[in-house]
Amino acid sequence: MPDTITLQVTRYRPEAGAPTLQEYQVPFREEWAVLDGLNYIKDQIDGTLSFRWSCRMGICGSCGMTVNGDPALTCGTFLSDYAPGPVRVEPLANFPVIRDLVVEIDDFMRKLPKVKPWLVRDEEPAVADLEFLQTPAELDAYKQFSMCINCMLCYAACPVYAIEPDFLGPAAIALAQRYNLDSRDQGAHQRLDVLATADGVWACTYVGECTNACPKGVDPAGAIQRYKLTAATRTLRSFLLPRAAR
Ligand code: SF4
Ligand code: FES
Repeated sequence: MPDTITLQVTRYRPEAGAPTLQEYQVPFREEWAVLDGLNYIKDQIDGTLSFRWSCRMGICGSCGMTVNGDPALTCGTFLSDYAPGPVRVEPLANFPVIRDLVVEIDDFMRKLPKVKPWLVRDEEPAVADLEFLQTPAELDAYKQFSMCINCMLCYAACPVYAIEPDFLGPAAIALAQRYNLDSRDQGAHQRLDVLATADGVWACTYVGECTNACPKGVDPAGAIQRYKLTAATRTLRSFLLPRAAR
């Protein structure tokens, strides 16, 4: 085992010109994640290096970066996976870079509320009836989509989002399906106008990289394909059936 490993890290300050890769030697420890290597640089070598992280346990979704070309949570990706190195650490692709490894995700934050990622009810129940019981099967219908941590790895992996920035994108659609498939929700018809559009599910060409990239086992590609069927069925019904029967 080597004593150290080389991290090649993107350094970028907008006022100082184009991004560059800078090399750092960090201790090689079996149990160290890539994020530990970055924190070593920050604490021991260069305190000006900027990157986001919070939980160090795959929950907050803030430590996503590109590691040796692939989008990854740096707290869940280990230096030993890349030994003997070097390990290239760059910002997530497909997002504007603010500084070093920090990207701006305003585009996602603007799109997300459009799919109403919350329980929508036609009528609010009386307080006394506020408990909504669900069977295990009803929970299973949406549970995997509820595991999303908004880490943006799926957007960084998506070749459609790379060239069509208006595309709603994998996580926003998966989160819409999280609520559409929830037995307590009544808002599917309100999400239809956002999802069944050229910038919604129809922009997806089913490359599937979003699902491959997801560190939480969410299947955005599957959510999108499933919703295409829903949208096509609704369109057909609107042509074939009288309004009352749709
Ligand atoms: S779907 Fe997966 S990859 Fe995409 S934001 Fe959610 S957790 Fe991250
Ligand atoms: S630091 Fe929270 S997911 Fe990695």
